[in-house]
Amino acid sequence: TQEDLRKVHDLLVEIARAAGKIMLEAEHEFLVAASTKNNTSDLVTQYDKQVEKMVEECVMETYPTFAFLGEETFKHGTKLADSPTFVCDPIDGTLNFSKGVPNCAISLALTLDKKPVVGVVYNPFRGDMYTAIKNQGSYLTKTTTGARFKLPLQPVSAPMPSLRTCLVAVEWGNQRKGPNWELRTDVHKKLLTDKEEGGAFCNSVRSNGSAALDFCYVAQGMLDCFWEGGVWVWDVCAGWIILEEAGGIVASANPGDWEPTLEGRLYFAVRHAKHEEQKAVVEELWAIMGDR
Ligand code: IPD
Repeated sequence: TQEDLRKVHDLLVEIARAAGKIMLEAEHEFLVAASTKNNTSDLVTQYDKQVEKMVEECVMETYPTFAFLGEETFKHGTKLADSPTFVCDPIDGTLNFSKGVPNCAISLALTLDKKPVVGVVYNPFRGDMYTAIKNQGSYLTKTTTGARFKLPLQPVSAPMPSLRTCLVAVEWGNQRKGPNWELRTDVHKKLLTDKEEGGAFCNSVRSNGSAALDFCYVAQGMLDCFWEGGVWVWDVCAGWIILEEAGGIVASANPGDWEPTLEGRLYFAVRHAKHEEQKAVVEELWAIMGDR
């Protein structure tokens, strides 16, 4: 029920605050302790592990029958189940965190039937707590003052039926070869290339280093789109419901697929869309991606 979801929401907000405290109090020396997972761009710090352990213990204590899927404890081949599942990215934007760039967040969600129904994304460095419950809207709470705003903050301006007028967030991920890498470099280039030369020439692109926050910034109205080729469920799960509840849309990379799923490694084109015609922007993104 809505009341049950509200209870989960309140618990995740409380846990996010505790995780934020751990991030804010992180010792400076941790910079040297950051180790690489798969390559030198794929980092993990002791704080990612510490936060995930704390999150798992807290949610499983209250909801022992639910499943848990976390970035740091994920085993290859594990699939998101239909049953209620907590999805956790303890620190989204680990590289930013390890450098002291204040654009990183804890990202927590609950899924039912493989769809996000509660999402919490918290950046303690800015005091920005983004939250959403299915059918109850999404909100930004400033933890420094307690002020609470319904999203989107900025009213969605008149139809923007072209990428030409969009500020687009893109991310580079942590792979530097393979099909995802080729797709990213190709699309990023086309986003900045004139139409006559095969591109789509948007306003400009931004790369903030946290997919979860990119979703929230689109939900807030600061960015028009977020596009990333190849993401994991914990990168997008909480941001997805926050964006949807703010009136945005999430689309997969398969042209024509307006109903993407959270399973596996996905591609997303995300658009803050209040007007039907804004779907044209997603169509443009699909067009520059070509057949993959
Ligand atoms: C990463 C960040 C990054 C995105 C990657 C993610 P992590 O998450 O969101 O911006 O490009 O795809 O995996 O590893 O810092 O939790």
